Amino acid sequence: MTAKLRVGALISGGGTNLQAILDACAGGAIPAEVLFVGADNPQAAGLERARSRGIPTFVVDYRGLLASRRHDPGAHPLPGDFALEEIRAKQTLFPRSSDPERVDAYLQGRAFAEARLLAAMRPYAFELLVLAGFMRNLTPYFIDRVNTDRARPRIMNIHPALLPAFPGTDGYGDTFRYGCKVAGCTVHFVDYGEDSGPIIGQRAFSIGEEDTIETVRRRGLEQEWQLYPECIRLFAEGRLKTERCVHDLPGGRMVERTVVRVRPGKD
Ligand code: GRF
Repeated sequence: MTAKLRVGALISGGGTNLQAILDACAGGAIPAEVLFVGADNPQAAGLERARSRGIPTFVVDYRGLLASRRHDPGAHPLPGDFALEEIRAKQTLFPRSSDPERVDAYLQGRAFAEARLLAAMRPYAFELLVLAGFMRNLTPYFIDRVNTDRARPRIMNIHPALLPAFPGTDGYGDTFRYGCKVAGCTVHFVDYGEDSGPIIGQRAFSIGEEDTIETVRRRGLEQEWQLYPECIRLFAEGRLKTERCVHDLPGGRMVERTVVRVRPGKD
């Protein structure tokens, strides 16, 4: 039997995706084990789901940490290896035209919390980090310290919309309010932007006249619970490969994008 993929998970809320992943691991649907579950808030109900399975948990209280640093930055120094210019240049969370002071304050605050997150994760030799309803953007400070090999991204996220449509925190709501006839969810690798990384898998479903935001959300979540374990399985089986693609467009323009190729498997 081959070794199981070692997975770490970060959550913010109810953790139904986490539950689906834990069940898929326990039932053998994916050759993986969850080593830890971390949350950015102590109230994350999903923590209990991990504890009841005997999985170690930790909390990095983002809200408290960010507030204390805002209140007294001098008493809450940035990590020694934080290089503001480098992080600012890499990030694509904010457009280049954004107010530089606001961007810097955001990046510094986040890196302060992210250093705690990295320290809490350090004892665990995880191979893949899954964001399962983790409602915080990650900066290049954190991402580069997890993705030590650029060619092998290893942070996955699930998003409640068919990306690149409707990034942000309310994908199903945005999809429904827009009047879309199709909704869906996306699993992708995390890059330096918001919900902008290479797409691993997607599920779509129709929105009918009888649907409401609630029914769309419920049906979407049910799709997520299948899609996320499937994508983790592909990773565990070594079937995901990123590839830089360059395409020529009319007018001499070019588009460049990193995409995920899924190698064929037994299924
Ligand atoms: C899911 O809809 C996920 O796509 C989004 O946040 C929600 C988390 O739900 N990122 P849960 O905590 O897994 O129940």
